[in-house]
Amino acid sequence: MIHRSLYLRGLAKASLSKVGARCLTAQAATALRDSEPMFRYEEYADVDWNNLGFGLTRTDYMYMAKCSENNAFQHGRLSDYGNVELSPAAGVLNYGQGLFEGTKAYRGDDGRIFLFRPEQNAIRMQIGAERMCMQSPSVQQFVDAVKQTALANKRWIPPPGKGSLYLRPLLIGTGPILGLSPAPEYTFLVYASPVGNYFKDGMAPLNLYVEDEFHRATRGGAGGVKSISNYAPVLKAISKAKGQGFSDVLYLDSVHKKYIEEVSSCNIFLVKGNVISTPETVGTILEGITRKSIIDIARDYGYKVEERPVAVDELLRADEVFTTGTAVSVATVGSITYKGQRVEYKIGDGLVSQKLYKTLVGIQVGKIEDKYNWVVDIN
Ligand code: COI
Repeated sequence: MIHRSLYLRGLAKASLSKVGARCLTAQAATALRDSEPMFRYEEYADVDWNNLGFGLTRTDYMYMAKCSENNAFQHGRLSDYGNVELSPAAGVLNYGQGLFEGTKAYRGDDGRIFLFRPEQNAIRMQIGAERMCMQSPSVQQFVDAVKQTALANKRWIPPPGKGSLYLRPLLIGTGPILGLSPAPEYTFLVYASPVGNYFKDGMAPLNLYVEDEFHRATRGGAGGVKSISNYAPVLKAISKAKGQGFSDVLYLDSVHKKYIEEVSSCNIFLVKGNVISTPETVGTILEGITRKSIIDIARDYGYKVEERPVAVDELLRADEVFTTGTAVSVATVGSITYKGQRVEYKIGDGLVSQKLYKTLVGIQVGKIEDKYNWVVDIN
């Protein structure tokens, strides 16, 4: 682990006005800024980078901003990573008034740090906040908070090719409320953790289980936004499937129990010939940022991409199936089990999913030209 004062030299340069002002006197900050040769910004935290999974690693800093009812969010600030004090009557604890986001910071081969479409997460949080009757940060404040959190925790960003720094923005009703109404205060918080592969078997093809008893979302519900309340209800289905050796669960629509919707942690795509199909987003499916990016990349490769109702029977005839998400990236599906019948898909070289995955990751880490203008260089 690097010595903390050396690390602070890095921070002093990265964000003197925020972190430096809190941790150092103005004189000390100036001295550090001027001591460029001593600058140890590139140092890494003491992490086993070859064995990163998707577990939480405690990093150095988190960002927090608050706002009271009907007011804009105040200027937020970084503080040491740690527990958050909450009223027992906080809206989020009692009525689940909360949203989360997931985005990643990547380290390029040349040491530059990139974010991927963070403004899309900001917009999605605003849409979710409107649905959940919450105040939300502006797009600029959201993106700035994510940048500050990534840079303050720079030593936790894995070396190129070893993973990424997962950034978790949260918007929660922290004001006390007893009757069922919107909370009188909201907190916007961003924390970070270095991560590798989401699934425990790494990049191995997924074995999905189609669930026809439990549903993830219903028409008119909040399945289309990233409400925290969408996630605990699927834990039962996930633990049942994992107990039987499956990687994750694929949910069906709750009305007809016939159309596929999404996997607990990601969106889903089918490939048949030159056509790639994915369920349309009609309020029950999360509008994934990776989903949207893969649709654009696939169209640019000349595939016909259809967003439409996809019947579960189509899984039997697909050439390939894959999933997309920020945590998951692009994951190849090896098999799907539905009503006791297991369908296996081709895996190995030449998969459409692997071509799309390599292009997406190449753009994210600055190796492939970003003609879409998706990547934000935050150095
Ligand atoms: C993400 O992909 O960022 C998510 O929020 C999914 C979550 C289940 C880890």
